Amino acid sequence: MSQMSTEELYEHLGEDQLRRLIAAFYSRVKSDDILKPMYPADDFSGAEYRLKEFLVYRLGGPQRYLEERGHPALRMRHAPFAIDQSARDRWIELMNQAMLEVDLPTEAAEILKSFFDQMATFLINRAG
Ligand code: HEM
Repeated sequence: MSQMSTEELYEHLGEDQLRRLIAAFYSRVKSDDILKPMYPADDFSGAEYRLKEFLVYRLGGPQRYLEERGHPALRMRHAPFAIDQSARDRWIELMNQAMLEVDLPTEAAEILKSFFDQMATFLINRAG
């Protein structure tokens, strides 16, 4: 069987599972020493919503993110945050824990993991 593409993940996982994943991730960010200070203290739910909507769009679901936020331009949108190797690794660690918590189907989890790994590395913008 050929591997599922990232664009097929929305259909496979559904919106509710993505919502639960991002909620599990942000509940960890909220008590994380490296990541918490970077996120807007007064708008955690907005940050949660933006990441969820981005994933819905990027994984092949409805394109609401594009309508609301325009082109993701993620390197540019992350430029204000000091993302070094340790911030990148922590983001991935919390996301991996969130994936285990919501117990995503194995194949989808593997594809999502490699998508997050690559994207997080691409977003490093400071030397460690
Ligand atoms: C590498 C470690 C990362 C750090 C430290 C980080 C940090 C942040 C912070 C502080 C924000 C602002 C929160 C807000 O108000 O929306 C943000 C936004 C966002 N991040 Fe990350 N991020 C990381 C990796 C990623 C990855 C891997 C993705 C995608 C898979 C991603 C997707 C997004 C999106 C879509 C937004 C909202 C952009 C917008 O519409 O304004 N981030 N990130």
